[in-house]
Amino acid sequence: MKMLVVKFWAMLCVVTSWQTMGMETMASSLGKGQRVTSVTELPDGRGFIADLEVIEQTTLYGPDINELRITARIEGQYRVHIQILDRSKPRWEIPVFLVPRNEPLAKGLKHNLELPEQQLIKLTYTTNPFGFAVVRIANDEVLFNSTPSATFSLNDDASHSFNSMVFKDQYLEISTHLPSSATLFGLGERTQPHGLPLVKGKTYSLWATDLGSTTLDVDLYGVYPYYMDVRDGGLTHGVLLLNSNGMDVEYGGDFLTWRVIGGTFDFYFFAGPTPLNVVDQFTELVGRPAPMPYWSFGFHQCKWGYRNVTELKHVVKNFKKAHIPLDTIWNDIDYMQNYLDFTTDSERYPEDELKDFIEDLHDNGQHYVLILDPGISMAYNNYSTFQRGLAEDIFLKDDQNENYLGQVWPGPVYFPDFLNPKGKAWWGNEIAEFHRKVPFDGLWIDMNEVSNFCNGTRCKFNGVVYLDHNECYVECEKPTSQWSDPPYKMIRQGAYDNIGDKTIAMNVKHYNGTLEYNSHNLYGLSEAIATNEALKATRKKRPFVLSRSTFLGSGAHTAHWTGDNAATFKDLEYSITSILNSGIVGIPMVGADICGFAGNATEELCNRWIQLGAFYPFSRSHNIIGATPQEPYVWPQVAATARSALGMRYRLLPYYYSLMFEAHNRGTPIARPLFFSFPEDTNALSISKQFMLGSGLMVTPVTLPDVTMVNGYFPKGTWYSLFDYKSKVESKGERVDVAAPSDTINVHIHEGTVLPIQEEASTSAQVKKTPFTLVVAFPAANRSGYAIGKLFVDNGDDIDMVIRKGRSTFARFIAQQSAERGILTSKVTSGGYANQEGLTIKTVVILGANSAPTGIELSGEPVSSSVSSTFDASVPSLTISGLSLSVGDEFQLQWTTELHLSG
Ligand SMILES: *[C@@H]1O[C@H](CO)[C@@H](O)[C@H](O)[C@H]1NC(C)=O
Ligand SMILES: *[C@@H]1O[C@H](CO)[C@@H](O)[C@H](O)[C@H]1NC(C)=O
Ligand SMILES: *[C@@H]1O[C@H](CO)[C@@H](O)[C@H](O)[C@H]1NC(C)=O
Ligand SMILES: *[C@@H]1O[C@H](CO)[C@@H](O)[C@H](O)[C@H]1NC(C)=O
Ligand SMILES: *[C@@H]1O[C@H](CO)[C@@H](O)[C@H](O)[C@H]1NC(C)=O
Ligand SMILES: *[C@@H]1O[C@H](CO)[C@@H](O)[C@H](O)[C@H]1NC(C)=O
Repeated sequence: MKMLVVKFWAMLCVVTSWQTMGMETMASSLGKGQRVTSVTELPDGRGFIADLEVIEQTTLYGPDINELRITARIEGQYRVHIQILDRSKPRWEIPVFLVPRNEPLAKGLKHNLELPEQQLIKLTYTTNPFGFAVVRIANDEVLFNSTPSATFSLNDDASHSFNSMVFKDQYLEISTHLPSSATLFGLGERTQPHGLPLVKGKTYSLWATDLGSTTLDVDLYGVYPYYMDVRDGGLTHGVLLLNSNGMDVEYGGDFLTWRVIGGTFDFYFFAGPTPLNVVDQFTELVGRPAPMPYWSFGFHQCKWGYRNVTELKHVVKNFKKAHIPLDTIWNDIDYMQNYLDFTTDSERYPEDELKDFIEDLHDNGQHYVLILDPGISMAYNNYSTFQRGLAEDIFLKDDQNENYLGQVWPGPVYFPDFLNPKGKAWWGNEIAEFHRKVPFDGLWIDMNEVSNFCNGTRCKFNGVVYLDHNECYVECEKPTSQWSDPPYKMIRQGAYDNIGDKTIAMNVKHYNGTLEYNSHNLYGLSEAIATNEALKATRKKRPFVLSRSTFLGSGAHTAHWTGDNAATFKDLEYSITSILNSGIVGIPMVGADICGFAGNATEELCNRWIQLGAFYPFSRSHNIIGATPQEPYVWPQVAATARSALGMRYRLLPYYYSLMFEAHNRGTPIARPLFFSFPEDTNALSISKQFMLGSGLMVTPVTLPDVTMVNGYFPKGTWYSLFDYKSKVESKGERVDVAAPSDTINVHIHEGTVLPIQEEASTSAQVKKTPFTLVVAFPAANRSGYAIGKLFVDNGDDIDMVIRKGRSTFARFIAQQSAERGILTSKVTSGGYANQEGLTIKTVVILGANSAPTGIELSGEPVSSSVSSTFDASVPSLTISGLSLSVGDEFQLQWTTELHLSG
């Protein structure tokens, strides 16, 4: 072994070999790892490049790759990047046009004042065997440590031993020690019956699969090789493996092992130290969440099985009759002729009739979204979408370079390749052509794992078309390649037998020779990018895309729903962890099918689900063909509940929309786990049946049948019921029973919040024209306190969502209260837009107010006689009404109390 100079400096330190320090290396059928043969420091002194060689060749899962290279870089103050690859030849890596690797801001996140300026994490490594560790500088805590038998551990018992690093063509393995104080989140997408934290002892497979979200604890449609690790005291970091190959991640409790079947090790470590910092740092790298149009925060109604335009019209009319708000009506595959994309059924959905219907919706401030599946039927010579695809040669190819044949709803299909620039252009053109006939407002991209009803390769069309047939009937050969049968088999918890089952064959080729084996998990992402771009180009407005299959960075292009759930209380409960997990990976616009997709909902279930679903970031009711209708007007009780719960959601639209703005800038989830707001509160870590909306609201839904009470966890502070300020909870950080009769959903405002709300209306467009109310929540049992809030307004449909003169307004509200007085001020950026729209605040509600006011002043002057106030001692609250504060102008509203007088 070559002698290495021992270095020790701020960023990086080399510890000499463990052997020289008297340590034993692990022997295993997977070898003894690698040793460092040479090291070069990066010129900027912020990392190194080292060459590695294998200590001992082994044969399990194939021969070792002998010539490895590691590049380690400290990027910015809070990010470490480590890539390990084959230095003798290139290997598959995720293209940057799918997942960008944005550089961190030079001096940390400027808008993120709580972060200190100095370096937050450092890197250390050992040379023989090679291993590396990432350490939080502030407290010397080891965040990740791949060194076998390492003694980096400060407070854990690192008794568990694991394999040294393994790097073979189709098998990569690396492990880290974990202290018992670690709580992990992420590694989706899956339905987690055990709640939000990952479960020690489980192995999480990551492979995009068309499997309903009713299937528990199994890899589903999306893939996120990323976890968040919260340590005692709430310090949080993120670990990302930027790799699109299939993998198993074993969470052993005191260790975690990645077993990956291709690509490279491409790790990013995000230092946090808060959960919000971690999502900020993660989405800075892979792409900020796409802004969603304002209308998409309204209520959406969908059903597979709306037979014709007349039926759609009835549904819209029934919402109106029942006084239930509705922004968007959707079509599943029913509208198509023979399930062909970009066609409408000539009898049930004639183009002209559909177009007239959509134009009427637009006149009423409502919208229309339709579904597209990736499979393009090849069975009709007169299907022009297919003909153009054939002419452009944009379909995936089998191993004999023929268009790869699969089978989905329309029967035999070819699959477009969205990695091919011509494939993207063809898709964009089809969308533009179709939009001329059917002026849809958004697109729903389904079945994009990719789902295929056959398992084989080189399939042949025998001339017969069966529509709607979900058993494979085209003839296929059984695939037999190193790709269809890799040496290491993912566990996949028994979901399907083989890696290529229910999807396209692993040896199928994309553009530039890219193998399906490598890029399988990226299909949904590549389709979302193409669809988002096509919508922008066609509508020249902010796009709305809803995708089933997602990957790291998908949030920059699409919204997401949790897929095929069922009409059960368990599915209702699990939907909460599913939407929270989506927010953690930078896909904040997410919901689950309200009232359940499969099966028939009961009135009680649908009643409880509309209460919960009204507060999902993306709020849509949807169900399967053949199931009984479940539009909220179907049952009187559900209709009444929908009026109240959706009514409240519509009042909250300015708050949701401002959270969207925050998400777009900082990655911040709209619906968040409680620990995002209370990271030091260890009780909050495992709360999986409640969630925060922003930092100001907490939703505590009923998740069980037959109950009229719900037991929720209330972190420390005052929590005012959003529906009835009087029923508040004063908590020391404890579980509390709150009443939940069938017409009640518990949503609470946390002290410290200024909440902007508007008036109820039947569409979001109408809400936009109503006056604002600010609800200021101070602690109830304290004469002093403070509260803050934010408001972003624009026209809701501009392609970008930025603060721009004349196009948008951003306001911050700061409120403070002492025994003698209270004061509410606004700070406004770019007020012109709000003024031009005439947006005004007419009412201010102060929760936790000290007494009736003895005087009210606006910018130092007594308010006019049209302003009145009422004090309700039972809350206590002070309501100041008759105001006319323009959102676009800064103001200072002050009120004095009786104490002020007597003092
Ligand atoms: C539309 O479908 C409904 C069933 O939902 C049926 O009763 C009606 O006859 C159909 N109308 C037309 C015009 O096809
Ligand atoms: C295309 O051909 C099919 C039969 O193969 C026929 O049913 C259909 O009406 C044709 N469509 C058009 C638009 O001509
Ligand atoms: C595809 O594979 C699954 C098992 O993973 C099996 O149940 C199914 O029968 C297979 N289908 C065909 C057409 O071979
Ligand atoms: C095609 O593949 C080569 C390497 O195989 C790569 O350098 C190039 O960037 C790829 N191009 C595209 C457009 O994917
Ligand atoms: C749902 O109800 C429909 C209509 O009553 C019935 O045909 C169907 O079998 C039911 N589905 C289930 C899963 O019970
Ligand atoms: C009351 O509020 C003040 C200022 O916000 C704070 O310093 C104090 O600790 C609070 N007292 C209680 C009992 O919560």
